Amino acid sequence: MATTTQDQLKRAVARAAVDEIVPLLDRQTVIGVGTGSTANLFIDELAAYRHDFDGAVASSKASADRLKQHGIPVYDLNGVGTLPVYVDGADEIDTELSMIKGGGAALTREKIVAACAQTFICIADGSKYVERLGGFPLPIEVIPMARSFVAREIVKLGGDPMYREGVVTDNGNQIIDIYNFVIDDPRSMEATLDQITGIVTHGIFARRGADVLLLGRDDGVARIT
Ligand code: 5RP
Repeated sequence: MATTTQDQLKRAVARAAVDEIVPLLDRQTVIGVGTGSTANLFIDELAAYRHDFDGAVASSKASADRLKQHGIPVYDLNGVGTLPVYVDGADEIDTELSMIKGGGAALTREKIVAACAQTFICIADGSKYVERLGGFPLPIEVIPMARSFVAREIVKLGGDPMYREGVVTDNGNQIIDIYNFVIDDPRSMEATLDQITGIVTHGIFARRGADVLLLGRDDGVARIT
């Protein structure tokens, strides 16, 4: 029996997200759009409906460019306010719908746009669904001059920090990835990391996790809430 490729699963969840939000759209609607390969497929699927809604707020320059290439207007979040829905991928998502995000270095803007959304729809292929977060190295966006200090604080918490060389975020900052980091309680670890000076944002999305997970599996797309 032919197995479904990861790319096919990503495309299936991107389509499922469009199916889920299209009935909610009107000509005034502005939606939040995430970043990454799955979000890119969502943008491509969304393009067919570009006349059914007003536009989008993007969580990265890359997504903004892709939206504009499809003729979808992109707005500054400051002029928009609350968004009815935000659609984005994840690097890992657990059964409580807490996530690790930031593999694409867009975590800060992703967290901001997610915070403004009434509903967060996470789109992910089955490989992202885990019992416990932490298999994927946790991305942290840091102010450049704080990089070594933050790394030392992370070591105290038991993680192995690794500087993601050559990457500059859309906000002009740097990324540290934490390897071998046990995240038994995502909300508690989110709060702990929030306290470290020099961290702009880290990739645990627990307080504002997903509301809906569209998970691509070989036997179809599962809708998990
Ligand atoms: C970018 C992200 C992405 O959502 C995450 O990395 C998943 O990406 P992909 O859909 O390419 O697997 O958080 O910062």
